[in-house]
Amino acid sequence: MFLWKSTFCIFFFHLASTQWSNYSFPKDFIFGITTSAYQIEGAWSEGGKGLSIWDYDLHQNSSLVVDKTNGDIACNSYHRWKEDVELLKHLGVNFYRFSISWTRILPLGGKDTKINDEGVKYYNELIDNLLAEEILPYITIYHWDLPQVLQDKGGWLNETLIEDYVFYARTLFQLFGDRVKHWITFNEFFQFCEVGYSDGQRAPFVSSPGVGGYQCSHNALLAHGRAYRMYEKEFKSIQGGNVGVTVDGSWCDPLTPTSESDQGAAEQFTQFNYGWFTYPILLGNYPPIMIDRIYVLSKQQGYESSRLPAFTSEEIKMIKGSYDFLGLNYYSTYLCTFSDNFSQPSFESDCGVLSSQPESWEPSAADWIKYSPWGLRELLVWIKEHFNNPPVLITENGWAYNSLDLDDTERIHYLNGCLSEVLKAIYEKECNVIGYAPWSLLDTFEWTMGYTLKFGLVHVDFESANRTRIPKRSYNMFRNIISSRRLE
Ligand SMILES: *[C@@H]1O[C@H](CO)[C@@H](O)[C@H](O)[C@H]1NC(C)=O
Ligand SMILES: *[C@@H]1O[C@H](CO)[C@@H](O)[C@H](O)[C@H]1NC(C)=O
Ligand SMILES: *[C@@H]1O[C@H](CO)[C@@H](O)[C@H](O)[C@H]1NC(C)=O
Ligand SMILES: *[C@@H]1O[C@H](CO)[C@@H](O)[C@H](O)[C@H]1NC(C)=O
Ligand SMILES: *[C@@H]1O[C@H](CO)[C@@H](O)[C@H](O)[C@H]1NC(C)=O
Repeated sequence: MFLWKSTFCIFFFHLASTQWSNYSFPKDFIFGITTSAYQIEGAWSEGGKGLSIWDYDLHQNSSLVVDKTNGDIACNSYHRWKEDVELLKHLGVNFYRFSISWTRILPLGGKDTKINDEGVKYYNELIDNLLAEEILPYITIYHWDLPQVLQDKGGWLNETLIEDYVFYARTLFQLFGDRVKHWITFNEFFQFCEVGYSDGQRAPFVSSPGVGGYQCSHNALLAHGRAYRMYEKEFKSIQGGNVGVTVDGSWCDPLTPTSESDQGAAEQFTQFNYGWFTYPILLGNYPPIMIDRIYVLSKQQGYESSRLPAFTSEEIKMIKGSYDFLGLNYYSTYLCTFSDNFSQPSFESDCGVLSSQPESWEPSAADWIKYSPWGLRELLVWIKEHFNNPPVLITENGWAYNSLDLDDTERIHYLNGCLSEVLKAIYEKECNVIGYAPWSLLDTFEWTMGYTLKFGLVHVDFESANRTRIPKRSYNMFRNIISSRRLE
């Protein structure tokens, strides 16, 4: 069995590697790479920084992370950012997508609180050095590290967070917008809302199935829309930048390709998981199937109104079209079939679709990522068809190892496979894909997986005081792709 399997894998890799698309990336297609503040900066209490929910929760309970680690030091990029810039420069990227730590800028988080000059200085230096190397900063405003003081009043469940967020975003536009022209309001609503407030598996580790995730995302979506309109009104004509948003999307194929029921399940999965956030931002409201199903189930469960909050008509007008580009994080594909075997209330039972990944797909070290590059093209085509071909920037895509991976053939294979599908989407399906940035520049602190998962194109020695960085083979592969603008 084992022999058969490994023979199969070699054959599989060999076959696939001859199939990379032969197109060149379009002239204006941009390449970048991604990180986020809590996962790389460290220096959790230095330079006047305030406490975030990740600082607070992991200090309260180290068992929340599989290897009982945290982001206190991480890659120490707060002190070693010059090495990061060197790595970016040598890689030849057009842009660097990183996030700002809210509590480094506003230690007390809320509206009208004081700005921390040392935090401002850190990001000013980083931004200026990137620009000196002709690397454009693409800044994620919120990548999950909410100030703990805002969590103390309920976090994203409290609608007053909208004002706090808009104040924080305005502060960033005022401080950095003279030089920074690309902003991403939020990273992955699903992860920090559904997993953070329904499942209790990410900070703030609140367990409120079928309720918390919807309330969080409703407020966060409104915060996104308000920040977009604020930039449009107060900054756009002076600063001339763009504001986008990043939504994570998996693809779902029907479990049985010929089954009409499974085809319907796959579409329903995408409507619930990806449409939940993209429908409001692109079309003005939640997908009709979400509104209908959650209303009916809520009534059956004895709720007075739907567990999914409703937008007012003014809010719909405000949020509809609140993007200049759509960030997409893609990692993997699943197989879908309808199921009603879920506990209630829950997002899973509202969605009513069971998703799985077959054993035969090549596994990564992350149990949710298996080799499935085609789903990226499928999702890009879905976006084109549902939203009239908006500009899509791929803001994350990656492959995980759990051991030393300097010779990271599987990652090379996956990134090439995904980029090949991007080329096909552009040339054969006329999808408006404007750029690509893998996750991640460095091995990072991977949230509740701690340091057990490695996604970096650059290895970080977390045992060394210097957090020594060593480029992996994939770093050179990506460098060649950027310079030749073709796949190898
Ligand atoms: C790929 O494209 C190049 C030039 O664009 C061409 O010379 C080459 O024959 C193509 N290879 C294949 C396998 O189509
Ligand atoms: C800490 O987190 C672990 C894992 O989620 C959990 O089992 C445990 O109950 C938590 N401990 C406390 C004191 O909350
Ligand atoms: C929400 O925040 C406001 C002010 O920021 C506070 O007065 C209120 O108590 C909070 N609500 C909850 C439920 O904590
Ligand atoms: C329903 O879900 C439970 C718990 O996940 C599982 O043990 C059981 O096998 C499932 N039943 C069916 C019919 O799928
Ligand atoms: C660590 O970094 C410092 C300063 O950047 C350097 O002087 C020192 O040689 C480094 N140590 C090691 C073991 O690389």
